[in-house]
Amino acid sequence: MAMGTARRTPLVSRRRQGFAVVSAAAPRLIVMLLAVAAMPSSSVAAAAGSPEVVELTLLANAREKGAVCLDGSPPGYHLQRGFGSGEHSWIVNLEGGAWCNTTEDCSDRKMTDLGSSKFMKAIEFEGILSNKRSQNPYFYNWNKVDIRYCDGGSFAGDAEGKDRNGTKLFFRGLRIWEAVVDELMGKGLATAKQALLSGCSAGGLAALLHCDDFRARFALEVPVKCLSDAGFFLDAKDLSGERLMRSIFSGVVQLQNVRKVLPKDCIAEKDPTECFFPAEFIKNISTPTFIRNSGYDSYQVGNIVAPGGSDPGQSWASCKADIRNCTSAQIEALHGFRKELVEALEVAQRKRDWGLFIDSCFNHCQTPFRISWHSPISLRLGNKTIAEAVADWYIGGGHGVKEIDCEYPCINPTCSSQLDL
Ligand SMILES: *[C@@H]1O[C@H](CO)[C@@H](O)[C@H](O)[C@H]1NC(C)=O
Ligand SMILES: *[C@@H]1O[C@H](CO)[C@@H](O)[C@H](O)[C@H]1NC(C)=O
Ligand SMILES: *[C@@H]1O[C@H](CO)[C@@H](O)[C@H](O)[C@H]1NC(C)=O
Ligand SMILES: *[C@@H]1O[C@H](CO)[C@@H](O)[C@H](O)[C@H]1NC(C)=O
Ligand SMILES: *[C@@H]1O[C@H](CO)[C@@H](O)[C@H](O)[C@H]1NC(C)=O
Repeated sequence: MAMGTARRTPLVSRRRQGFAVVSAAAPRLIVMLLAVAAMPSSSVAAAAGSPEVVELTLLANAREKGAVCLDGSPPGYHLQRGFGSGEHSWIVNLEGGAWCNTTEDCSDRKMTDLGSSKFMKAIEFEGILSNKRSQNPYFYNWNKVDIRYCDGGSFAGDAEGKDRNGTKLFFRGLRIWEAVVDELMGKGLATAKQALLSGCSAGGLAALLHCDDFRARFALEVPVKCLSDAGFFLDAKDLSGERLMRSIFSGVVQLQNVRKVLPKDCIAEKDPTECFFPAEFIKNISTPTFIRNSGYDSYQVGNIVAPGGSDPGQSWASCKADIRNCTSAQIEALHGFRKELVEALEVAQRKRDWGLFIDSCFNHCQTPFRISWHSPISLRLGNKTIAEAVADWYIGGGHGVKEIDCEYPCINPTCSSQLDL
C-alpha cells in the first residue's frame, strides 16, 4: 500500500516518504490491514479507510497523435466518475516522479512505469483523489482523473531521440497532455461546471506550466483553477556552489524541447532553462493558482541544497535524515533556502486570487496522501489542514488564502507527525 500510494512522489524520495507516512500511523494501519484481509472482497471496497483501486485507461489512437511514452507505448490515466452534486465538477491531477535529463537516464525509464505503460497498473486513489468525504471533504464527489507520468519532462517536451541501441526515444509530454485532455473532454470534461488542475512534484511543475492552457479550454464563466503541490523548484545553489536544479532542468529543456510551453515574453529575453523555473514563469500565469510547498522541501534539501556529491564528508547525512539533528550552521543554510523560496513567492503574494500554503515542516508531496491532506494528524496552518485551506481558497473567489509559516522550528506543533525525509 505504501509503495502504491507513494508513486506520485519523485523517484528519489518515494520510498522514504512512503515509509515515514506509514510509520506515523503504523498501529492503526496494521489493525486496518488485518481487518480488510479477513473480509470477503466485495465488502472490502466499502470498508472505511480501505483503498479505492481505480483501473488504468490507455489513451486511444496514441500512436497516430504521436502522444506516446518514452518507449512509444500509449500513455494512461485513471478516471473515477463524480457523483451527486459533484457530477459536473472535475479534478485533473498530473502525476510526478522527477525527470530524465539525458538519453541514458530516459532509456532507463523505459523499463519502468515512469517511461512505459507496459508497466502501469491500477492505482489507489487517496488524499485529494479520494471519494470519501471524511478524507476529502470538498472534492470527494468530483470526477477525478490521475494522468500517469511517462515522458520524463513534466508533460512539456516535444522531440524525439535515440537511445543507446539506436531505438527511438519519444519526448512527447506536451502531446500527451493535449491528447489526454482532449479525450477527457469527450468523456464529460467539456461540460464541467468547475475544474481544478493539480499535481505534485514534477506534476506540480506541470500543473503550473499548463495552467493557463487548461483554463483556456473552458468558457469564461466556468471557474477553473490550479493547484501545485511541492512543485516550486528553485534555482538554488548547493553546498559547493553548484546549481544542480539548473543542470537538471537544462538537460530536460534541451533534450526534450520544452519551448512551446514557456511564456514567449520570457524566452524572448532569457535562457529557456531560466524560464522553466516557476519563480520566472508564474509571472505570466493569469489563472487563480494555489501553491503548496514546504519552506524546507525535503526533495530540494536532499537533492539540490545538500546533495551527497556536494557533501563529501557526509556531514549532512544525519541532518537530512532528521531536521532535529541539524547543527546551527546547517539550519542557517536551510533558512537560506526558505528565504529564497518566500522571496520568489512575492509574485504570488501580490496576485489577489492566488493561494499559498507554505509550511515549515520537512516534507515533499502532501496532497496525494490521506494522512497529510486531511486527517487528525495533518499539519495545519491557521488551524486548517491543506484540504481545508485549498477548499476555502477554491470557494472564496477573490479572497486568496495566504499562509506562510514562520522559520523552523517555529511554534507549529502539527509538524511533528510530518517529518518524512
Ligand atoms: C538495449 O541495449 C541494452 C544493453 O546495452 C539491453 O539491455 C537492452 O535490452 C536493449 N534494448 C533494446 C530495446 O534492444
Ligand atoms: C543531468 O542531471 C544531473 C543531476 O541529476 C546533472 O549532474 C547533469 O549535469 C545533468 N546532465 C545534463 C546533460 O543536463
Ligand atoms: C509576462 O510577464 C512579464 C513580466 O511580469 C510581463 O512584462 C508581460 O507583460 C507578461 N506577459 C503576459 C502575456 O502576461
Ligand atoms: C539523531 O541524533 C540522535 C542523538 O544524537 C541519534 O541517536 C540519532 O541516530 C540521529 N538520527 C539520525 C537519523 O541520524
Ligand atoms: C481548530 O479547528 C478544529 C476543527 O477543525 C476546532 O475543533 C478547534 O477548536 C480549532 N482550534 C482553534 C485553536 O481554533
